[in-house]
Amino acid sequence: MISPPLRIAQVTDLHLFAESDQCLLGMPTLRSLNVLITQLRQLAPQPDLLLLTGDLSQDGSADSYHHVQRLLSPLGIATYWLPGNHDRVEIMERSLTQFHADKSFRKRNWQFILLNSQDPGCVHGRISKESLNWLDRQLAQNPNVPTLVSLHHPPFLVNSTWLDTSTLQNSPELFKVLDRHAQVKLVVFGHIHQEFQHQRKAVTYLGTPSTCIQFARASDKFALGEEEPGFRLLELYSDGTWKSQVKRVEFSYQLDLAATGY
Ligand SMILES: [Fe+2]
Repeated sequence: MISPPLRIAQVTDLHLFAESDQCLLGMPTLRSLNVLITQLRQLAPQPDLLLLTGDLSQDGSADSYHHVQRLLSPLGIATYWLPGNHDRVEIMERSLTQFHADKSFRKRNWQFILLNSQDPGCVHGRISKESLNWLDRQLAQNPNVPTLVSLHHPPFLVNSTWLDTSTLQNSPELFKVLDRHAQVKLVVFGHIHQEFQHQRKAVTYLGTPSTCIQFARASDKFALGEEEPGFRLLELYSDGTWKSQVKRVEFSYQLDLAATGY
């Protein structure tokens, strides 16, 4: 008999503010997250794990992280996080006390590794030499365990000139490590506020929509997409195979490009 898959909900780019009714380009980010959580609650069966892949906050305030925790904790699902370019790691560590701080852990037959791709003061991403060495060691310790690696920044260009200036800057170094470990199946990320999929060797790379505003696909300059907020569901099977789909949430708002820029 095949055992049921491990179910993961990837929730990314929440961009909450200290003020709960503050908007990002007209989008009330806390309200759209709330609607998304209502949809998460209706999933049957419930996810086994929530994976928050960065930009949880827009302003890096402790209050914004308290909102994230206050809204997600009642789901009672084990929650893990990594930082994006907008986040402040030391404030996250102090504020997200009800979430798990582990960045490498095993759940049933899968290994999960969460990387920090924040390059301080920059919008683009970079994985430090120390983190790459740490990743290499984690993977070397579990050569036969199917593995999902997550980070905030995409290690590929996404065919959007403005967004492609802020992808991961040292992807070849990441690939060099991943190429040494055949158990890596998936790499998931956020940052690009759109659905994305790319195959490189045996690894599938998945980008996931934001819980708030969406970025237009294949755009030369900054532009918002009309897609609704979303998240990604992953089903991970014990034999290392997986399935994934993006779920969208019905939410409308009045775009305000004159408001504070992204
Ligand atoms: Fe980001």
